[in-house]
Order: sequence, then C-alpha cells, then structure tokens
Amino acid sequence: VPLPRVLSGIQPTAGSFHLGNYLGALRQWVALQDTAEAFYCVVDQHAITMDWDPAQLRQNTLVSAAQLVALGVDPARSSLFVQSHVPEHVQLSWVLECLARFGEASRMTQFKDKSQREGAAGSSVGLFTYPVLQAADILVYQADEVPVGEDQRQHLELTRDLATRFNGRFGDTFTLPAARIPQGAAKILDLQSPEKKMSKSLPPAGCVFLLDDPKTSAKKIRSAVTDTGREVVADAENKPGVTNLLTIHSALSGIPVPELEERFAGRGYGDLKKELAEVVTDFVAPVRARTQELLDDRAELERLLAGGAARAREVAAATVATVYDRVGF
Ligand code: ADP
Ligand code: NA
Repeated sequence: VPLPRVLSGIQPTAGSFHLGNYLGALRQWVALQDTAEAFYCVVDQHAITMDWDPAQLRQNTLVSAAQLVALGVDPARSSLFVQSHVPEHVQLSWVLECLARFGEASRMTQFKDKSQREGAAGSSVGLFTYPVLQAADILVYQADEVPVGEDQRQHLELTRDLATRFNGRFGDTFTLPAARIPQGAAKILDLQSPEKKMSKSLPPAGCVFLLDDPKTSAKKIRSAVTDTGREVVADAENKPGVTNLLTIHSALSGIPVPELEERFAGRGYGDLKKELAEVVTDFVAPVRARTQELLDDRAELERLLAGGAARAREVAAATVATVYDRVGF
C-alpha cells in the first residue's frame, strides 16, 4: 500500500518559528514522515500578500528552511522546498481562480481578520485570493491529507469544493484532500496574554522564538503572566497562565501534566518557571546550533532546497500538464 501523501506549508514571515508553531504544527510534520510521503514547503508567495521587505523575505525564507531541517524534517525522506521555486503552484492557481466564485472567496473569515488593518478596499487582491493559491498548493501534489488547525478548516473546505467542481466539469483529475487532525498537537498561549494564542503578531515578550538566546527565553518565561494563587495545578479556565506553562513543559519533556503537578506540589510558580526555562533551553539549544550551521553553508542549503524543488516539480508539473490539457490550453 503506498503511503498517504501529505502537504503542508508554513510562512517565513517572522524568520524564527515559535514554540506554538513547533508544538502545534511542526512537531507533527516531523512525526508524519514515518507514515506519509511528505511535501513540506516554505510558502514565501503567501508572505507577500501583506507589506514586505524583499531582502528580509529572502533571508527569512532561508532561516525558516534551515529551522525545519534542524527540527527534524529530513530532506532525504521528504520533499522540502520553497513555494516560489515551484512555478506550478501559481500556474494551477490561475485556473482555480477562474473556477472559484467571488461570493465563496468573500466568505473566507481569515480575509476579514487579516484585512482589518488596511480595510478590504485597501488590502491586496492577493490577500483576498490567497486561499485559492493555498488550494493550488495542496491539489498540485494530489495530496491525500493535509494537517490543519482549526483556523485553516474553511480553506480546506474551499480546496475540496474547487477540486470537486473541477473534477465534475473536466473529468476526474484531483484527489480530494482530507483534513488530518494532528496527533498530539498542543495549543500554546501567549505568555503575556494567556487568553490569546502565542503568535508572532503579538508583542515579542509573550512569544518564545526557537532562535531566542537562552537568556531571552528564560526572561520571557520568568515574566510570564500567572494568577495570584500559589498552587501549580492545571486549570485552563481559572489558571490559564500556569496551565500554559505546564502544557509547554509536558509537551517538551514528555512528562504528563499530573506528574508535573505532583512534582511541583508545595512549590511555587517561580520553581516551575525556572525549570521550564531549562527544559526550553535544552530543547532549543541544539535546534539553534544546527540552524546556524546550515545557514553558515548557504550554498549547501540552497542545493538542498533545489533538490526538494526538483522532486516537487516532478509531481506538480504532471498535474499542471493534465489540468492545462483538460481546460483547453
Ligand atoms: P502565527 O500565529 O505566529 O502567525 P502562523 O499563523 O504562521 O503563526 O501558524 C503557523 C502554524 O503554527 C499553523 O499550523 C498554526 O496552526 C500553528 N500555530 C501557530 N501558533 C500556534 C499556537 N500558539 N499554538 C499552537 N499552534 C500554533
Ligand atoms: Na497567525
């Protein structure tokens, strides 16, 4: 039985990924390599839907790719590449844009969120059509499964709708991708505002980046907002800050939360934060070192990504050839 094919992408916008990205998504990317044929891409084309700096984007793309390898994405087993190196994504996207309806694109809630700052009229058309490019990212590989968080469900539905519409009109062409609920994914909260998701878009004091130096991450963890109580117990509703620290600890150390509660019984939040800072440092230190090593040999990193793009293009070009033929090009 062939392995299911999986596609996933991540934006290079912040340069460094954060603990939420890792524990909510990238750790599952690494694990999936054992049971799936994986296509993983740094989606630099999605990163220009909002204002950007070209030199920064190029650098962030390389830093992102290096981190993925450092975290355990294995270029020998998975196709790891940069979206813009595979022109077939955009080639397919145009056809899908012509099948997508303005009304259904208008219903995408993420555009409503992301266009708030500039307003819909001042936002780029690319921000509006970005879910269609995302559909192309998936369909061009005939992916069976897509690991998605809640925030991407609506886009996957659009992807399936477009695939179904194409297949109905032009003959069976696309595999319908299924949402794959990532096993063991954790939702990590911001350290300063534990009612919100940890995010690169919030002030950096609440966000532990994988490339933070140990002093910086320890300081962020020490300053994490907790509650006025003293007991180290998980209680998501009443003690979201402490619960979040326990979640991060458990996810990285592998120690179940109830065991951590026992271990910290009679001790304060300070002890938990101190130990968590060590757990985080132990995890990120080798990731930072390996990322730097990869960035120091930029030619080799670029060769590795070119290899990934070549493998990706074999699949993507076959899909686009069929599609272009069927639509009359
Ligand atoms: P950000 O919120 O920092 O902009 P992205 O939206 O680029 O992060 O998310 C990239 C991936 O990381 C997605 O799969 C998303 O679901 C996951 N992710 C982001 N933040 C978190 C978090 N705080 N907890 C768990 N997963 C997260
Ligand atoms: Na986000």
